[in-house]
Parts: sequence; C-alpha cells; structure tokens
Amino acid sequence: MHHTLEQARAFEARYGQFIPEDQRPAFHLTPTIGWMNDPNGFSRYRGEYHLFYQYHPYSTEWGPMHWGHVKTRDFLHWERLPVALAPDQPYDQGGCFSGSAVELDDGRQLLVYTGVQKHLTDDGRTLETQTQCLALGDGVNYEKYPANPVLTQKDLPEGGSPVDFRDPKVWREADGSYRMVVGNRPADQSGAVLLYQSLDGFTWSLVGQVDASHCQYGMMWECPDFFPLDGKQVLLTSPQEMSPIGLEFHAGNGTVCIIGSYDRENNRFVREHIQAVDYGIDFYAPQTLETEDGRRVMIGWMQNWNTIAGKPRDCRWFGQMSLPRELSIRDGRLIQTPVRELEQYRRNPVRYQDVLLNNEETNLHNVSGRKIDLTLTVRPANSTPYSCFRVSLAKDGEYVTTLRYKPDTSILKIDRTRSGSNADIVHTRSLMVRPQGGVLKLRLILDRYSVEAFVNDGEQAASVAIFTRQEAAAISFDAVGAVLLDVEKYDIVLD
Ligand code: FRU
Repeated sequence: MHHTLEQARAFEARYGQFIPEDQRPAFHLTPTIGWMNDPNGFSRYRGEYHLFYQYHPYSTEWGPMHWGHVKTRDFLHWERLPVALAPDQPYDQGGCFSGSAVELDDGRQLLVYTGVQKHLTDDGRTLETQTQCLALGDGVNYEKYPANPVLTQKDLPEGGSPVDFRDPKVWREADGSYRMVVGNRPADQSGAVLLYQSLDGFTWSLVGQVDASHCQYGMMWECPDFFPLDGKQVLLTSPQEMSPIGLEFHAGNGTVCIIGSYDRENNRFVREHIQAVDYGIDFYAPQTLETEDGRRVMIGWMQNWNTIAGKPRDCRWFGQMSLPRELSIRDGRLIQTPVRELEQYRRNPVRYQDVLLNNEETNLHNVSGRKIDLTLTVRPANSTPYSCFRVSLAKDGEYVTTLRYKPDTSILKIDRTRSGSNADIVHTRSLMVRPQGGVLKLRLILDRYSVEAFVNDGEQAASVAIFTRQEAAAISFDAVGAVLLDVEKYDIVLD
C-alpha cells in the first residue's frame, strides 16, 4: 500500500470525529484516530508550541509512521492540525520516524526526521536503513526537502550502524547555528549519541560522540535530547533492552537521564549523575523544549513498548502523551513537576489536615474523582514509626489502583493490577524514595486514563496508564500503624 498525505488527512478528518471527547483523556493528548507513539518536534513556533507525534491513523497498531500534529498555548488544550508527514518518498517509504523541529530565520519551520528505507538483500531478507531528512513548512503544510536525505551512512563514525541511526533532536545555539543529536548503534552493538552541526540547518557535519552506553545502560539509545539546565548539561535517552539495576532501572525499554558538565568547544561531556527519568510503568521517548519564559518542559509517550499489549478491546485511539513537566536540577538530581499552567484549571478545592489513619480504611468527603490534582502529605502520628501507608485510587468494588509506601525500606509501590487491563503484562513497579523519617509527599495527577505521581516535590515521577471504567472514582486511605495525613484536592476542569 502506498501512503499519501492526502489519504491520511482525509482519513483522520472523516473518522476522527467519531471518537467522543469523553472517551479520551481530558487534558492529555491522544491521537486524532488510531495509534500514537513518540512525541516529535516539540518546539516553539510563531508564539505557539507545536507537537508532532509518531502516528498510524489507520489502526490502533503501530504501522507505517506518519507525523500527527497539534499545537497548544498552555500545554493542556491541544488544537488538532492535519497530518504533517506521510511516508511517501523512496527514502522514507518505511516510515517517517521520530525527529524534531526548529524555527528558521526566514520564518519557516524546519522538521528533521528519520527516513526509513527498506531494501531486499540478495538472500531474501529485508534490511532497513535509516537516514536523517528534512521538511519545511508554515506550521500546517510541509514540503520535503528536495536534497533529502541530509545525513546518511557516510556521516557515521567508524563502526556506526546505518540500520540504527535515528531520532534527530535539533536546536539552535546562541550564535544562531544549529546542532542536533542522533541515536546510533556503535560497533559494540549497544547505543551512542552522536552530535552534528550546521550553519544553515540544511548542510550537516559530524562533530563526534556525546556519550555511549558501552553495553552498560541498555543497547540502542533511542530518542536523545541534550540541553543545558541550571548550570549543568543534561542528556536524555531511551535505551532498548536494558538490564535491571536495583530499583533504578527496570528491564526492557527505559528512560535515562545523565547529568554532567559539558565543554562545548571540545564536545566533552563528563557524567556526574545518572538516573531514571520516570519510575513508573508507562513512559518513554521524552523530548523537551524551552518556553518563552525560559522553562525547560518535557513531554513523553505515556506508554512503553513492553506494555502495549495492555490495549483495551475496541478502542479507537491508543497511546497518550504524559503531562508536560517542568525540569530543574536540585542536589545534582533531576526534578520534575507538572507544568505550572495546570494550576489555572484547578477547581473546587478540598483540604484536610492532620487526618489520623490508624489501621482502618478511611474515605474523606469530597475526595474522589478521575480528573484531579491531589496532594498528600503523610507523617508518623507519634514517635512509633508506622509500617505502611496506602492510597487507593480510581476505585469501585472491582477496580483499584494503589500506591503503597513502607518507610522501613523507603519503597513506594504502584499497583495497577486491577485497573481495567486483563493483559498479562507488568502491572506493578517499585521505586526507592529518599528516606525522610516516614514523611512522604505525593502529588497525584489523574486524568481519565492515567495516574502520574510526583514524589517529594518532583524528586521522582512515576506514570501509569489505566483503563478503569470512569465510574470507578472513589479514593481511600489506610495505614498499618498511626499516620497523620494532609490532603489538598482539586478537580481539573478545562474550559
Ligand atoms: C522509539 C522509536 C524511535 C523510532 C520510533 C518509530 O519509541 O522506536 O526510535 O523513531 O519509535 O515509531
């Protein structure tokens, strides 16, 4: 089947409208119709924020990749735009894979993406090669650059694989020149991040490697991003085939944040700290932008390749984006907080202070809901440590999603075993939080199909997709031992 842009635009325009708004998240982005994975081209353009995404409109399965397109001013209302790219050229007929965007001096928007090309080998196998390609447009319509591809096998360092060479992230330097990082599989078969430079955005040359896995943090490094933050330099990447390391990194597709110092002149990145980006189940391939007022905001695919079998039957969309998060660095670690624009949409405040939980389940009047911003602070009620605190969300007689904290081990465990999915996939994740004598602060953002937890003012984030029916909206608390609980709850209402 040959995929054209016109065909994809007609398809989503015709059928996208049949998905009722109340069967989508209220403020998290979902595809117009069909399948969505990675965020692409998350960037500022003509005073608005654009977001593209890996898109297969024709089914809720991954398929030949298009770029879906939306824009926003507040990171919560997403205005749908027509499909931006279709895999319609010889150099991208295997898919327009992930990439990024930047505004040129002449006012055009430059998209940089990976073109996948399929070749039949002499012995009958299909081999895919990946190159970096450009498209130019006005924020709605894009033309592929006639001289595509702009980076090919010949631009790789020695030993770099042309089969795994993807996900360019472009940005502009203070002097107006352009840089991009691209993921690659080096000779050791694991992952690396390559840096390229350009004066005009069209002609690119290799600077060198920024960092590499050396088979330690997973294999192929997908979707890199590289930016300054609070006096440090941050490298984000999403490795495939990770081996677990304690509770820091789980097996499979993960997210890694490396904080270090960077000598720009000599392209020398020195690691100082390495950690996971998200400690939940569903988060992958994040990308960042810088806002007008200088904030670094990150968005991720709130799904994971290892859990896509959790898809509900008969859904018309699959895959959602995380809430955009503001990034900062505190004590050498990555801090993530929900984008501050969310606070404009908080309604119906409910507050409780010093609620005593003492070995029995507690419900609080007006503390329930599925589109909420809920902050909980727990602490020991007396000098005897408690052994466990638990909050149960999105709950009815059948369904429940829980977070459970045990201060003696400092382990927080998220459990969505009974959250609407009957697939035999990972449904729990445990993370180690900073011990603070039994004090724990949790900010929980619920939308119709997700729970995102921000621990201790953004020290850790953990996201899970849930498919629980919307009527399951009760919230309860319980503890083993004596706990004092403060609650602050708002409904999130987008007008
Ligand atoms: C990451 C990824 C990227 C690739 C895209 C294809 O989730 O595998 O490396 O560009 O998805 O859809």
